[in-house]
Amino acid sequence: MTAAPASPVAEPTSFSFNADNLAKAKAFVAKYPAGRQASAVLPLLDLAQRQSGGWLPRVAIEYVADFLAMPYMRVLEVVTFYTMFKQQPVGKYLLQICTTTPCWLRGSDAVVKACRDKLGIDFNQTTKNGLFTMEEVECLGACVNAPMIQVNDWFVEDLDAERTTALLDALSRGGEIPIGSQIGRQGSAPDGMVTAGSQAVDVSAKPADPAAASKMGLASKKPSTAKSAPKTAAKAAPKTSAKTSPKNPS
Ligand code: FES
Repeated sequence: MTAAPASPVAEPTSFSFNADNLAKAKAFVAKYPAGRQASAVLPLLDLAQRQSGGWLPRVAIEYVADFLAMPYMRVLEVVTFYTMFKQQPVGKYLLQICTTTPCWLRGSDAVVKACRDKLGIDFNQTTKNGLFTMEEVECLGACVNAPMIQVNDWFVEDLDAERTTALLDALSRGGEIPIGSQIGRQGSAPDGMVTAGSQAVDVSAKPADPAAASKMGLASKKPSTAKSAPKTAAKAAPKTSAKTSPKNPS
């Protein structure tokens, strides 16, 4: 696929909620006391963005401002503050790739490279066929299953280059994608945790690998904690170290 900058799609000249979204918008506004309808600005902008195909043309922002009897500038301030709101068209699939430290330590560079190689685009670009937009984001709160990508509303976790390529292939085919952990973790159970039926086996008592702990800068901290801590805390020290094993830096 060839790269294209976020394409300058012609701005629509009008916008109004469809019947479904109009009912939802009225329900949101009704949650607040009279005169406080501006409190519903976030959900209304979200509705408008979804109806507009993932971005907010100026007419949609104006419509929401009129709907809530707010000055256009006040609504625009909200739109430009929250990165979830887009003022440029995006692809059918918005790939928000987390590159913050836990994801980076767990291989987000390989995930980014797989996207670049497969799609032929870079951050803030959209494929010519309008399917994918790539975006770099900060922590999305799924560090325990890092690295991860948010695809539209869905989290896809425990990725590597191969799984990322498979994900993009599935999206290109319009097929379903597996959501959540791609390595079959239950929720955010530690990577490598053995499960017996629905019962998780606690492996936290295992001593951390000293070489790996040293790389993570943990080795020097352990002895000092054990020395200064009372006897009972010193006994618990190996358990604490195991929880911060390199497999789960978050
Ligand atoms: S660092 Fe990537 S989800 Fe938190």
